[in-house]
Amino acid sequence: MVLWHNQTLFKNIDVFDLDYLPEEYLHRDRQISQLASNLRPALMKSRPINTLCLGPPSTGKTTAVKLLFKEIEDVSDVVIPVYVNCQIINSKQQVFAKIFEKVHGYALPSYGTPFTKVYYSILNKILDDEKVLIVALDDLNIILDDKVMNEILHSLIKAHEEVDGVKIGVIGISTDVRIAERFDIYVGSIFHPDVVLFPPYSWEEIYDILHSRAKFGFYPDALTDEALEKIVDLTHEAGDLRFGIYLLKMAGREAEKRASRRIEVRDVEAVCEDGWKVFLRKGVLALNSVERALLKLIYLSSNEMTTGQLYRQFKEIIQISYAKFHEIIMKLEHLKLIDTAYRKGRGKTRVVIKKYDSKLVLDALNEFKF
Ligand SMILES: Nc1ncnc2c1ncn2[C@@H]1O[C@H](COP(=O)(O)OP(=O)(O)OP(=O)(O)O)[C@@H](O)[C@H]1O
Ligand SMILES: [Mg+2]
Repeated sequence: MVLWHNQTLFKNIDVFDLDYLPEEYLHRDRQISQLASNLRPALMKSRPINTLCLGPPSTGKTTAVKLLFKEIEDVSDVVIPVYVNCQIINSKQQVFAKIFEKVHGYALPSYGTPFTKVYYSILNKILDDEKVLIVALDDLNIILDDKVMNEILHSLIKAHEEVDGVKIGVIGISTDVRIAERFDIYVGSIFHPDVVLFPPYSWEEIYDILHSRAKFGFYPDALTDEALEKIVDLTHEAGDLRFGIYLLKMAGREAEKRASRRIEVRDVEAVCEDGWKVFLRKGVLALNSVERALLKLIYLSSNEMTTGQLYRQFKEIIQISYAKFHEIIMKLEHLKLIDTAYRKGRGKTRVVIKKYDSKLVLDALNEFKF
């Protein structure tokens, strides 16, 4: 049976948008209940427990907080949840402009309003209305300037000292699990968040999550189990659930293109290379020029290098301390662009391992002029 040109395999293609809130949020019961119990006091007009959600990319941190915020808005008119994406909103002024808008129900009249005026107007309003504010700062580690990050946290956690009786809870979300090391003395001494960890998903967990996504996005039986398993393999290998969601959508389109009623392994294979490219481009986009230069050096070399050898070569191109170099290696590994492993030799040495075909990575890098 073929698919006619006006037919589709997609019941709802929006399901494959990355910011789509999934109907089923799987394998995160522990995290959800820990978060919920930290926020619960707010429903009783008490101050919620400050929380840090930590874990690698695509482990469901944003989704958990958004789902809970949605639920809170449905059941409570005491709590005002404010979701702040620090990738877009990344100064103290912008964060508080966003809170102002949510608390007052209208946007700040102009950007010229002095910060203290905005700040006290928020605090006084929630106190008068007897509300509890919960602010989620998503992708907090994206704010590279420690001073800015600490200023934002500081303003939120000292609010009850400024206006007696004010209740504010903070949820910080970060892929950098060591973010607390960046807190200054003041923030560190009064901000003792409860940590909720989001570990990477196993193969089986990825299978369940993608299976559920497909159930809501495709018509029944559109996706063959073999194709799904192939996508799960690739997702597990990439270590990023977003890659799998993207592959589901692209494979669905590919099957439609050849007018098939079923998505098969060959559709996944057909879109896989482009999938890697998009995925790599995203990774490369997250790097600055020095980091890209190091990635390039790694993928240009034909043999496996120890971190020491690599450092010596890199230093000839760019003057950099070993500590900084090491930080970049960790970032590249965290973004799943490389692997590192210990090898037994004279003592213990660490080698850098390419994760992808060199051409794919170099092509992605060449799209940038630097
Ligand atoms: N447990 C889950 N069940 C269903 N879908 C999930 C689950 N975890 C993640 N997802 C889906 O995977 C994608 C990435 O999840 P999310 O944005 O919540 O990750 P994140 O941890 O915030 O990642 P990042 O640190 O990169 O922002 C989303 O499309 C989300 O719907
Ligand atoms: Mg997120």
